[in-house]
Amino acid sequence: MAEPIRWGIAATGGIAAGFATDLALVEGAVITAAGSRSQARADAFGDQFDVPHRHATYEALAADPDVDVVYVASPHSRHAADAILFLDAGKHVLCEKPMAMNEREVVAMIDAARRNGRFLMEAILTRFTPAHVEVRRLLADGAIGTPLAVDAEFGFPFPHDPTHRLFDIALGGGALLDLGIYPLQFATMVLGPAAAVAAVGHVGVTNVDEHVAVSIRHEGGGLSVAKAASRVLLGNRARISGTDGAILLPPSFQNPRHLTVVKDGESTRMDAPYDGIGLRFGAEEVHRCLAAGELESPVLPLAETRQLAAIMDEARRQIGVRYPADG
Ligand SMILES: NC(=O)c1ccc[n+]([C@@H]2O[C@H](COP(=O)([O-])OP(=O)(O)OC[C@H]3O[C@@H](n4cnc5c(N)ncnc54)[C@H](OP(=O)(O)O)[C@@H]3O)[C@@H](O)[C@H]2O)c1
Repeated sequence: MAEPIRWGIAATGGIAAGFATDLALVEGAVITAAGSRSQARADAFGDQFDVPHRHATYEALAADPDVDVVYVASPHSRHAADAILFLDAGKHVLCEKPMAMNEREVVAMIDAARRNGRFLMEAILTRFTPAHVEVRRLLADGAIGTPLAVDAEFGFPFPHDPTHRLFDIALGGGALLDLGIYPLQFATMVLGPAAAVAAVGHVGVTNVDEHVAVSIRHEGGGLSVAKAASRVLLGNRARISGTDGAILLPPSFQNPRHLTVVKDGESTRMDAPYDGIGLRFGAEEVHRCLAAGELESPVLPLAETRQLAAIMDEARRQIGVRYPADG
């Protein structure tokens, strides 16, 4: 039997707990270490998820010889520095979305992965859920002809707490980076790289965007519209329109358990069930890549992660949001 893959979890917040819960469903995965900025939080996380090594710093986690791959679940503003710390320590890295604050940081992370010969992937784990695998199969089979349009949106009415990472500019706040990445990555998955980007947005009192719409003309000729909002509930659906039909993903389109194909005036529902909260499939892709010696995932290549960062840089330039990391 293959050796288990030993995970380290960097940060102890909301999504770190969700990921650790789902990792229990992944065959061959074991969490050997948790890293935090505080010993007490590392210990609490360790108690909750039965993690033997609990580190009071991310540096100590990086130095742990019993860790193969680190899941970086800190706020966006730290992703680049944290991921590079772990890559330079010889760990593989799965880094939460958005990969970083801007394209420049993403390039530095990719450079670190390449110089250390380590795996790196942005944790857009939704892309690996059964419904999204089915979307790619339907498109490859030509089920709706040539896809020419994508409409997708993601928004929730979060409490307006200026210290929360969604609204705090120092932590990389803003609807685009946190929520808009989902519809944007869906658009690039279906329609490919962007040729032109046009964005409008509302920037709130903390100087980050709270509502944004990004239209893209893709190199292949398709058009997409991606919307994100942190103050209102959006439809949270996605639609792919092709020359011979459409694919509809219900709310929340990132991790639905069914989808609908509309063709010749008929709607066909296709079920895509799974256990857990939908994060395990991306972890399984990390395992597959490591076993195969692949340093990036063909389903979510680093070039696409870089392109997504470039799209968001351009959208932010147009709506007027700048982060300290932009210099
Ligand atoms: N894939 C998904 O479905 C999904 C869902 C939600 C969020 N995310 C992403 O995951 C990241 C974390 O989101 P979250 O919702 O888990 O956030 P969160 O609940 O606020 O947790 C963030 C954690 O990061 C650590 N941290 C390090 N430096 C920090 C700082 N300066 N301020 C606050 N926390 C700091 C903290 O852990 P320690 O104190 O232990 O160091 C904290 O618990 C974000 O980049 C977000 O976009 C992904």
